[in-house]
Amino acid sequence: MDLARISEAARAASEKAYSPYSNFRVGAAILTEGGAVHAGCNVENASYGLTVCAERNAAAAMVLADLNDRKIRLIAIWSPDAVPCFPCGACRQVLHEFGCEEVIMLEASGTFRRYPFGTFLPYAFGSENL
Ligand code: THU
Repeated sequence: MDLARISEAARAASEKAYSPYSNFRVGAAILTEGGAVHAGCNVENASYGLTVCAERNAAAAMVLADLNDRKIRLIAIWSPDAVPCFPCGACRQVLHEFGCEEVIMLEASGTFRRYPFGTFLPYAFGSENL
């Protein structure tokens, strides 16, 4: 697994952020079980509540790309405006939907830190609860 490549995809996506209201740029890159990489950036709106985070846009790109490769092995998140940049609660729930196993973030020291997904959303609600 090439973590540097996936983190670079997240960094590149952050440069595409559409965030004129918060000026807070976020990029995310999902690595699927099948080895595909799907990136997303945050997209804001004048109606603020319609903003969609980078992580959920990356998940939408994954869903669109391949019906048979929708299991998230890991997600890398990067913001030039906050190090580390933790995923919001809504994104944690969406990442859980697709079986995310790990979250990778760049630390202030410049090194990567890997977090097991369960530490972000313990006792998660999922399809097994329906
Ligand atoms: N944001 C993300 O895209 N991902 C995160 O993990 C945290 C927050 C975005 C939403 C909004 O455009 C801006 O960052 C400030 O909240």
